[in-house]
Amino acid sequence: MATVFLAGGAGYIGSHTAVALLDAGYDVVVADNYSNSSPEAIRRVERITGKTVQLYEADIRDSARISEIFQENRIDAVIHFAGLKAVGESVQKPLMYYRNNIDTTLTLLETMAKFNVNKVIFSSSATVYGSENPIPYIETMQRGVCSNPYGWTKAMMEQIFEDAAKANPELSVVLLRYFNPIGAHPSGLIGEDPTGIPNNLMPYITQVAVGKRDHLTVFGNDYPTPDGTCRRDYIHVMDLANGHVKATDYVLAHKGVEIVNLGTGTPYSVTEIVETFQRVNGVAVPYEFGPRRFGDIPEFYANADKALALFGWRTEKSLEDMCRDSWNWQKQNPNGYR
Ligand code: NAD
Ligand code: UD1
Repeated sequence: MATVFLAGGAGYIGSHTAVALLDAGYDVVVADNYSNSSPEAIRRVERITGKTVQLYEADIRDSARISEIFQENRIDAVIHFAGLKAVGESVQKPLMYYRNNIDTTLTLLETMAKFNVNKVIFSSSATVYGSENPIPYIETMQRGVCSNPYGWTKAMMEQIFEDAAKANPELSVVLLRYFNPIGAHPSGLIGEDPTGIPNNLMPYITQVAVGKRDHLTVFGNDYPTPDGTCRRDYIHVMDLANGHVKATDYVLAHKGVEIVNLGTGTPYSVTEIVETFQRVNGVAVPYEFGPRRFGDIPEFYANADKALALFGWRTEKSLEDMCRDSWNWQKQNPNGYR
C-alpha cells in the first residue's frame, strides 16, 4: 500500500485523517513542529488503529530536515495540513502568517520535486470564496476577496499549487476547501485542542459545558437568516477525514488540478448548534446574544456535488453525531492533551 506524508499531521484534522488513512490500509508518516499540537495525538492515533505511525518533530520550512525525511521514507503522496489558522491572530501578525503558511508550501513543493513525488492534497478553506460569491459555494466560482491575511494565505497557496501544476504536467493536486469541521473521533481519544481562548464556536461551547468558561456569547442575532444568527456548513471531522482518504485514492490515480469542497451542503445556525448540543448531551450551555463579530458573513454552505461525482464521497454523520462526539472528547479530556 502507498505511503502518505502528513505535513502538520499531529493537528486536529491531520490526526483524524491519520486514523482514516491507517484504517484504509495506507502507511502514514507525520512531521509536525507542535506549534499548535502535541505528539500525544499521534500516540493516540496508534492506540485507536493498532498501527504504527512514523513520527518526526520537524518544521516543514526546514528543507534539509524535510529532505532527510523523504530520504528515509518512500513517499507516494503528500497532504499539506501545516499552517497557522487563527483568523484574528492573522490580522495582528500578518507577516508571521505569510511566512509560515507560504514557506511551508514552497518547501514542500520543492522537496517533492527533488524526490519526484507528484501527488499532493492541500487543506484549503471555504474562506477563499470571499463574501461576494452567492451561496451555495461551488468550485467553478472565482476566488473572492478575502477578509483577513489567513484567508489570503489560502488563496495564494491555491494559486501556487495551480502554477506549479501548469509547469509540471506530472503533478497531481487536489485543493480541498473545508467548510466548518467540528466533532471528534467517536472513541473520545483525539479531538480539537485549542490553546487559550477558543476562537471557533464548537470548542467554545464544549469549554462552557465543561465549566471552564462561564457562558457563550452568540455573535449577532440580527442577521438576515431564519433565527437571526449566522448559518454555517458544519462537517464532522471523521467525514472530513474520510474525504481525505478518497482524495488520496483519487490523486494517486490522476494528473492535473482539482478543487473540491468538503461540506455537507446543509447550513445550521449558531442557535441550532447550541440547542442541539444541549439536547443531545443533556448538559447546559448558558448563552447570551452579543454584537456581531467583525468579518463574519450571515451565511455560507457548500454545493457538495463535485466530491460525490469525483470521489464517490458524501457525509454520513448528523449534527447530533457532531455534538455528541465533540462533548465526548471534551469531557474525557478536560485539558486536551495536557
Ligand atoms: P491545527 O492547528 O490543529 O493543525 C495544523 C498543524 O500544523 C499543527 O499540528 C501545527 O503544529 C502544525 N504546523 C504549523 N506550522 C508548522 C510548520 N511550520 N512546521 C510543521 N508543522 C507546522 O489545525 P487544523 O484545524 O488541523 O487545520 C489543518 C489545516 O486545515 C490548516 O492548514 C488549516 O488552515 C486548514 N483548515 C482548517 C479549518 C478548521 O476549521 N479547522 C478550516 C479550513 C482549513
Ligand atoms: C472561521 C473563519 C474561517 C476559518 C474557520 C475555521 C472567520 C471570519 N472565518 O469561520 O476563515 O476557515 O473559522 O478555522 O473568522 N460564534 C459565536 N460565538 C463564538 C464563536 C463563534 O457566536 O464564541 C459564531 C460565529 O459568529 C459564526 C459561527 O459561530 O457565525 C461559527 O464561527 P467559527 O467557528 O469561528 O467559524 P467561521 O467564522 O465560520
